[in-house]
Amino acid sequence: MASDANERLAVTVRAVLFTDIEGSSRLWEERPEQMAQALARHDRMLCEAVERHHGEVVKTTGDGLLAVFRDPLGAVTASVEMQILLADPATTAGLALRIRCGIHAGVIEQLEGDYFGSAVNRTARIMSSAHGGQILISQTVADLIRGRLPADIGLRDLGAVRLRDLSSAERLFQVEHERLRRNFPALRSLEAAPNNLPQQMTAFVGRGRQLQEVTDALKRTRLLTLSGIGGLGKTRLSLQVAADVIHQFPDGVWFVELAPVSDERLVVHAIASVLGIQEDSGHSLEDSLVRHVNERNLLLVLDNCEHLVGECARIAKRLLQAGPTLKILASSREHLNVAGETVYAVPPISVPAAGDVSTEALLQCEAVHLFVDRAATVQPTFKLTAANAAAVMEISRRLEGIPLAIELAAARVRALSVSDIAARVHDRFRLLIARDRTVSPRQQTLRATIDWSYDYLSAKEKALFRRLSVFRGGWTLEAIEHVVCDGELDPGGVLDLLFSLVDKSLVLTPGDDGRYGMLDTVRQYADERLREAGEAAQVGERHANFYVGLAERAQDRLAGADQSRWLQQLDVDRENLLRAHAECMHRPEFVELGYRLVSAIKLYWFMRGLLTLGHRVTIEAVSRPGERPQSPDRCKALWVAGQICSYAGRYEEAERHLTESLAIARHHDDRRMIAAVENSLALA
Ligand SMILES: Nc1ncnc2c1ncn2[C@@H]1O[C@H](COP(=O)(O)OP(=O)(O)OP(=O)(O)O)[C@@H](O)[C@H]1O
Ligand SMILES: [Mg+2]
Repeated sequence: MASDANERLAVTVRAVLFTDIEGSSRLWEERPEQMAQALARHDRMLCEAVERHHGEVVKTTGDGLLAVFRDPLGAVTASVEMQILLADPATTAGLALRIRCGIHAGVIEQLEGDYFGSAVNRTARIMSSAHGGQILISQTVADLIRGRLPADIGLRDLGAVRLRDLSSAERLFQVEHERLRRNFPALRSLEAAPNNLPQQMTAFVGRGRQLQEVTDALKRTRLLTLSGIGGLGKTRLSLQVAADVIHQFPDGVWFVELAPVSDERLVVHAIASVLGIQEDSGHSLEDSLVRHVNERNLLLVLDNCEHLVGECARIAKRLLQAGPTLKILASSREHLNVAGETVYAVPPISVPAAGDVSTEALLQCEAVHLFVDRAATVQPTFKLTAANAAAVMEISRRLEGIPLAIELAAARVRALSVSDIAARVHDRFRLLIARDRTVSPRQQTLRATIDWSYDYLSAKEKALFRRLSVFRGGWTLEAIEHVVCDGELDPGGVLDLLFSLVDKSLVLTPGDDGRYGMLDTVRQYADERLREAGEAAQVGERHANFYVGLAERAQDRLAGADQSRWLQQLDVDRENLLRAHAECMHRPEFVELGYRLVSAIKLYWFMRGLLTLGHRVTIEAVSRPGERPQSPDRCKALWVAGQICSYAGRYEEAERHLTESLAIARHHDDRRMIAAVENSLALA
């Protein structure tokens, strides 16, 4: 049967054209009868245009069509003809229909008259960036037709545009003709709306039904929680939904990553910092946040709430009360449990039923698609063939449609054949029969997959992997060298090990900022291994030292010309800095290091308007006297505490810290320090 699948699955390169009618649902509502007539004419006319230009109509979609062309030039000339014809409302029974067209070219898979593959999806995204009357083509198409265009057709370069599939930017061109409209509003791309949705390094697969259901649910509710176990694809789904609904929120969609946030008191900070809100004097950050959302129409995507559900629930409730047009899309392994919350249980991606290896199931099954896509990224020559189809099916079934598990398994194709992977997955999961009843079977499946990926690492890869769990919110190569390397892992070889972990999907491919990271479920696993290996204290110490060092390097530069770069540097490493602070708090021998950190970072709190957080961290540090209560570092930290307190209007508290600081400065007869502290004391 598998060979049957392969025979009927043809892979070819084609130009793909998507069209659709702008505002068709409104037209259906307002003038249903006229619309039915207009649409019939529209369909006929478009199909004829495709045929005249040697294309093939794959399907009509209700308000548009999908067509393929051997020559991309045909797709372009057909679209121009369609637009010219439609410009006259008489062609469509007097009802003016405006269509948008998107054209792209690439490898497509054809099965029984339908077409699949990422080139098809990308074309749909290009089309959806266009306005009615506009024709957009990708760079690939532009390259293929340049020099062959009829004299009356021109191309206008619109530059690189981020499409709503959240992938890397695509350069788009507008097709121009003297009889067509030339000037349009900005493209309906991601840039057109305020947002901070992160670019995705991998393709989004399937989920058509869930995207629709979640989008619909979001119309009816103001707090929607996507729930499910780790690795099920909650975050990825929420990002895609957010990108799809972006134009419904004029004040933007904002993605707040809570996984690296370790302390519930920092949830408000995390949200505020994404929205660019600072504490203003006299108001708490939370009040400023509440005022900000008050009249804004925005969508907050709160990602990975499970370890902070109580606080997320509280703040969600407060913000929803304050902002009548605000909506929240949360992803969480646990519900928030707030009145009015709608919970959407994210299902696994589709897997074929046992024994079902029919051709239809093969391509329609999202798990197979995901496996093939990810396998091809580590092994570009990888293809679904008659020989491996059954094994791929077996793997997707065994892994129960958990995307993370499938990605981990697919990453192994570089070293193992698919049938080897299938056999090993099979063996590994037989061991799961003695199941722990406190954990869901799906969770055990995921766990076993991560275990399996881990077991297969070399000793050095294992060491690197588990030590990387110490980072919060990502890391740089420089940080690895200082935090992770030691006698066992030398800096010279660590880069190769890191790349190998990226290949194995255990570490995320870095974005444009060059920072690496891990999915939360994977990080938690690595953290367990780190503790088990007895390395947590040692790595935690190096981590704290490195980030205190970073803060100290930033200290003077924050007041200099490079200020904004250093502020951003501390922003991206804020969770790492807070983790370093937490490490200092837990270890008696690090009291002094903790003092140095709060002194170094003082200016950052002021500049970023994070006084409440700065106050808390600083007071925590100085409330531990340590073994050297008269140390110069303590003297300085107390001085900083005094300054922050007086800035926050806590004068008595300020006086207490400054008095103690002054006593230490006097003890050392440190004139400069005495003068500085006296100055602050006078101000307080
Ligand atoms: N529809 C999809 N298409 C492509 N990749 C997907 C899809 N769904 C999930 N993935 C990938 O699977 C992995 C796990 O997904 P994700 O991080 O969204 O899971 P999660 O449910 O948020 O997990 P956690 O609870 O650990 O945060 C990611 O690498 C993600 O990119
Ligand atoms: Mg997640």
